[in-house]
Amino acid sequence: MKFKHALLERNVVLLAIGIVVTIAIGGLVEIVPLHTIKSTIEPVQGVRPYTPLELAGRNIYMREGCYNCHSQMVRPFRDEVERYGHYSLAAESMYDHPFQWGSKRTGPDLARVGGKYSNEWHVAHFKDPRAVVPESIMPTYGFLARRDLAIKDIAAHLKALRAVGVPYTDDMVKNAAADLAAQADPEADTKGLTDRYPKAALGDFDGDPKRLTEMDAIIAYMQILGRMVDFKTVKPEQLRQ
Ligand code: HEC
Repeated sequence: MKFKHALLERNVVLLAIGIVVTIAIGGLVEIVPLHTIKSTIEPVQGVRPYTPLELAGRNIYMREGCYNCHSQMVRPFRDEVERYGHYSLAAESMYDHPFQWGSKRTGPDLARVGGKYSNEWHVAHFKDPRAVVPESIMPTYGFLARRDLAIKDIAAHLKALRAVGVPYTDDMVKNAAADLAAQADPEADTKGLTDRYPKAALGDFDGDPKRLTEMDAIIAYMQILGRMVDFKTVKPEQLRQ
């Protein structure tokens, strides 16, 4: 045995073959099982695709580069959990394309900002952050309230996301434009919308019920962040991630 080991150590070619075989076994053991499962993310109850209006708001969030200052991932550390709430689960961003975890926090993490403030607070804050947080260095985004929301291609957008695995149903695609308008219209019949998308925040968001603006969309998006999963009722085994 001792002799054979010396042979391996003195022969570069044999040693190289030995190394490749050993690493290949390790690789196969790790990689092959991944091909037998559909997703590495365990689904968690409550997580659903974004409503068309939330999705439009999310696009504005990316267009405006909010991720340059805000992350959307509460890490499993005590200081973070005490400040923001339950740590983020992989499933909570499984329908995000691309995800918004981020690593730069000039401003606070936004993963659990939904429901923390009223719509009115958000409008005031976007129009002039220093009006509500005097020491804020966040830029103003008042122009969002003056821009009509572009909605022409919303159904196609849902379909495109479906192509990459977001489970939008035919029903959701068919009603995309109507759902988008209904979510920000206090007088609309929202039964279909809330059946399709539980927990969607409803009503006028920007303070101007007659117009559908980019401000409506970004606030609808803010208000769903972190609210899909009910951490009081979620089963403990779903949290083991
Ligand atoms: C230059 C960095 C910067 C950019 C860009 C920025 N923010 Fe902020 N944001 C901050 C800072 C700093 C704060 C903390 C002070 C405050 O509340 O204004 C903040 C606070 C917030 C809050 C309140 C969070 C809380 O828990 O109190 C929200 C919501 C928010 N930002 C949303 C946005 C959105 C949406 C965008 C993009 C349209 C954006 N921010 C762009 C820096 C930024």
